[in-house]
Amino acid sequence: MAADLPPQASGVTGGSAGGWSDRFEQGLHPAIERFNASIGFDIALLEEDLDGSVAHARMLGACGVIEPAEAERLVEGLEAIRAEAAQGRFNPGLADEDVHFAVERRLIELLGPLGKKLHTGRSRNDQVGTDVRLWLRRRIDAIDEALVRFERALLAQAEQHADTLIPGYTHLQRAQPLCLAHHLLAYVEMAERDRSRLADVRRRVDICPLGAAALAGTPVPIDRRHTAAALGFEAIYANSLDAVSDRDFAVEFMAAASLILVHLSRLSEEVILWASEEFAFVSLTDRCATGSSLMPQKKNPDVPELVRGKSGRVFGHLMGLLTMIKGLPLAYNKDFQEDKEALFDGVRTCLDCLEAMAILFEDGLGFRRERLEAAVEADFSNATDVADYLVARRVPFREAYQLVGGLVKGCLREGVLLRDLPLERWQALHPAFEADIFEAIAPRRVVEARRSEGGTGFDQVRQQLARARQRLDA
Ligand code: ARG
Repeated sequence: MAADLPPQASGVTGGSAGGWSDRFEQGLHPAIERFNASIGFDIALLEEDLDGSVAHARMLGACGVIEPAEAERLVEGLEAIRAEAAQGRFNPGLADEDVHFAVERRLIELLGPLGKKLHTGRSRNDQVGTDVRLWLRRRIDAIDEALVRFERALLAQAEQHADTLIPGYTHLQRAQPLCLAHHLLAYVEMAERDRSRLADVRRRVDICPLGAAALAGTPVPIDRRHTAAALGFEAIYANSLDAVSDRDFAVEFMAAASLILVHLSRLSEEVILWASEEFAFVSLTDRCATGSSLMPQKKNPDVPELVRGKSGRVFGHLMGLLTMIKGLPLAYNKDFQEDKEALFDGVRTCLDCLEAMAILFEDGLGFRRERLEAAVEADFSNATDVADYLVARRVPFREAYQLVGGLVKGCLREGVLLRDLPLERWQALHPAFEADIFEAIAPRRVVEARRSEGGTGFDQVRQQLARARQRLDA
């Protein structure tokens, strides 16, 4: 991306075009300048970089490192840059190298020599760590909101289908019938775990490294707690080396994001199956489906397919971050620059996928009640209930299980369902069977009977629905 940027006249402070300290005599090779620069992507940190610098400038003033009036002018300069950026008039180039240098260069252009005081008592190492944490903290909050919207969409569907049945599967084989709301609520539970995982990650993103300077702290009489409080951080790093070397929070975030994508991908896979003609459990509305350029009859589930596909990116970023960090000696290493594109893309992907899936459930699909009801009627997913019927009449479970297995085999041979067998057949199998067996194996009854806590019985599901509604509306 950086390769597309225009070269820019000399950065006053850093960057390739002669801004390093007087130790340097030659400029960077142009290809290396491109290779080294992060401005092409870390410009996304501009807001946070300005926030961090404003807090730093004020702290320098408050601690008497610079005059309070100087601090105020620095803040005004930084706010002027924010305004320029809002109007599209702040466009750093390659020579600025990164967002930190770009801001400092512009500040010096605006304020003259005073601008050169901003970087007192800090380094880009603690600066970038602060920026990334501020950036990620905001995005975690946005992802949490996106999770809530997604949960609301699922819950609204679940509430509409508190009485609808759907086949339940294990090994993708028909297992036992379920209440559809129960199935959807399973994903609400996953999303709640995602939220609590993110909240946990957020606690460790919420620690301020600013003031660790390059790696060792600084002789400048700064007040780290002043900046941390101004930036709303919960705590500060206890060890300056750890402060500039820690990217655990990025890994933790990506792990949490990966699980979000795992959940979305599994749900996507179900929707894709459900939308197929073989299942036909849902129909896709025109809002979220696409056609084929060739086959006029097609309506494709592109949204869940893309979500399923995009999950791979986030898992890739997790592996990329772990690999990037694992061999790094303390403290800062340039390798860390690689954390940004991973985080930016991971966050983007997570937000996009959550939004798309929320819209899919709000507006993009409808469950086909008749198809679902017909499906649960026409299978052997009530076989366990025949065994349970006998168990309730004191037959040992394993014996009942064997008997019913034989019965199902006979039905399959004859091409009939359990409900089609005459009472004599049942009684020939075991004398405990009575006429109420037919009612006992009706799908609706079978679901209703699963009253164990957390089970699919309608009463249990209604309690789950109420709890989920309460949680979301709280
Ligand atoms: N662009 C760098 C990054 O993203 C900023 C920190 C650079 N620090 C340094 N000592 N070179 O990590």
